[in-house]
Amino acid sequence: MVQSQTKILRFNRGELMSAVIQPKLIIHGGAGLHGKGNVGEVRRSLYEIIEEVYALLRSGSDAGAAVVRGCQLLEDNPRFNAGTGSVLQSDGQIRMSASLMSGVLQRFSGVINVSRVKNPIDLAKFLQNSDDRVLSDFGATELARELNIPSYDPLTQSRIQEWMEEREHNFSRPMASVMSNVRETSEAGRGTIGVVALDRQGRLAAGTSTGGKGFERVGRVSDSCTPAGNYATHEAAVSCTGIGEDILDECLAARIVVRVIDGMPIQTSFARSFQEAADRKRDFGAIGIGVDGTIAWGKTSEMLISACHTGDKISDTLEADLGVQTGTF
Ligand code: GLY
Repeated sequence: MVQSQTKILRFNRGELMSAVIQPKLIIHGGAGLHGKGNVGEVRRSLYEIIEEVYALLRSGSDAGAAVVRGCQLLEDNPRFNAGTGSVLQSDGQIRMSASLMSGVLQRFSGVINVSRVKNPIDLAKFLQNSDDRVLSDFGATELARELNIPSYDPLTQSRIQEWMEEREHNFSRPMASVMSNVRETSEAGRGTIGVVALDRQGRLAAGTSTGGKGFERVGRVSDSCTPAGNYATHEAAVSCTGIGEDILDECLAARIVVRVIDGMPIQTSFARSFQEAADRKRDFGAIGIGVDGTIAWGKTSEMLISACHTGDKISDTLEADLGVQTGTF
């Protein structure tokens, strides 16, 4: 008797939860439009992904699974600098980084500089339940092999073209040195992909994946597989894009989330964190969701390629004004 009452109570509470919590979703495809196509094409790509992933959330998928699916779709789209379409490093190789953070478990996992896999986010997902939760190049490749993940070349024609154009003069000099020609930032490298979701049970998760800055020194570590670039708790979840070193210097994702934990509304946390970043001339953007369902975004970069589903409609930041800005949906 007591047991069945408990069941009824749980059932009723579950019904109440699903009645009151409307899932929320926001995704990004980087902090610049370079090489991604025109605004209309990029918007179509983002909206298709938003629709597929929001349908999962609406049908009861948990936030972590929705984030993984969103990251896979963004990684598979060669427009974006993650998975297929990743930029090349200074030595002409692709090395990708990805991370996943469950807000409900407050657990971070990911891979740094992994090669020859289609979806680095799949490795981050596997590592959620592992004792060793962040693996770098060699270890990540070994894990892919252990999991029988087929070897995959994420190189696209346009990425090799970009690299060759940048390197054109290297091959005509008598002492050609490709490796040492490291560039501060490539325009294409302002890309990263990210997904933040709030599910019907009120659980948050964030995922971020990248091919890096492009033309970087071999061994450079991206922010995307650190809590500076991707962070989630019960209270808020954030994914970042832009220049990784700037994101690390601000510890941006964790900074925004910790302010929310301390009681600041997420929109104020974004506004304050981006104002501080602008004062320090940082170059990046971020998306986030608070457990209250507020969807927030911010940028110091010229653009933020992001779109969201509020439960009622799909919106985006593609035509936001240039310069420093934060906002909510
Ligand atoms: N935010 C991506 C990177 O700098 O690697």
